[in-house]
Amino acid sequence: MIIRLENLNYIYNPNTPFEKKALDDINLSIEEGDFVGLMGHTGSGKSTLVQHLNGLIKPTSGKIIIDGMDITSKEANLKEIRQKVGLVFQYPEHQLFEETIYKDIAFGPKNLGLEEEEIHKRVKKAMELVGLNFELLKDRSPFELSGGQKRRVAIAGVLAMKPKVLILDEPTAGLDPKGRDEILGRIQKLYEEEGITIILVSHSMEDIARLVNRIIVMHKGKVAMEGKTREVFEQAEKLQEIGLGIPQVTSFMREYKGKGHQVRDDVLTVEEAKEELINYLRRRGNA
Ligand SMILES: Nc1ncnc2c1ncn2[C@@H]1O[C@H](COP(=O)(O)OP(=O)(O)OP(=O)(O)O)[C@@H](O)[C@H]1O
Ligand SMILES: [Mg+2]
Repeated sequence: MIIRLENLNYIYNPNTPFEKKALDDINLSIEEGDFVGLMGHTGSGKSTLVQHLNGLIKPTSGKIIIDGMDITSKEANLKEIRQKVGLVFQYPEHQLFEETIYKDIAFGPKNLGLEEEEIHKRVKKAMELVGLNFELLKDRSPFELSGGQKRRVAIAGVLAMKPKVLILDEPTAGLDPKGRDEILGRIQKLYEEEGITIILVSHSMEDIARLVNRIIVMHKGKVAMEGKTREVFEQAEKLQEIGLGIPQVTSFMREYKGKGHQVRDDVLTVEEAKEELINYLRRRGNA
């Protein structure tokens, strides 16, 4: 287990007219190597939750254990935690500030006090991982880049810290379809090739269904649902109650089954549906 949350509560602006309970008794475990999708309506507490995981926000009450370390204790070393848990914010490009891409990505490793040579290696590797050409781009200004590229620089900056856990808060928000596919493709590859634990906050059912193996659904500051991807999407009625949907293709297969066709209704992607339909039609043809 790499992350464990126990009775976590968080209140913004306590004892003021603006008091707001954003997290309400959260209990969760995340295993090393999981790829977790964090879903929920706007305002359900997703960003508040992930900011607790690298010590950026201190809980009002409750425990946060990261890789065996209680980060809410007084002795907790925040620097070590931030290195272990890399958080890419919503709209991270707003936090680029150095005059070159190299310097921006090197910022975190430099703060760790690493040697120049190691920093160089890490920046190069991080740029490769997000698909940015090192030689071509390292001395350019991050502000000359496209929206999707800027975001990849921000992700590279976090990867250069070599975190065990990578948290991405809505990494595709506001990008065009091409930029979105590029980022998601890179994230998937990172997961497959680097064995890193990933938490992906997303509003897109399709992306979640395609990428992750576990889902956490937040609703009004609570964990409303939690489980394997397929198990969660099988509970379409519960998701609908919360006001969230299921992937379009899953919904189509459920309807098709409802009309008397003997097909699986737990498919998550277009590819799976295609395969299932071809098999079904073959079975029917042979009958
Ligand atoms: N800095 C803040 N001060 C006061 N209240 C806040 C602050 N940030 C968030 N909140 C409130 O806390 C609740 C949870 O917000 P949070 O940003 O965690 O939700 P979210 O699930 O990330 O939403 P979104 O999908 O819009 O990003 C909301 O009611 C929000 O209005
Ligand atoms: Mg948010």
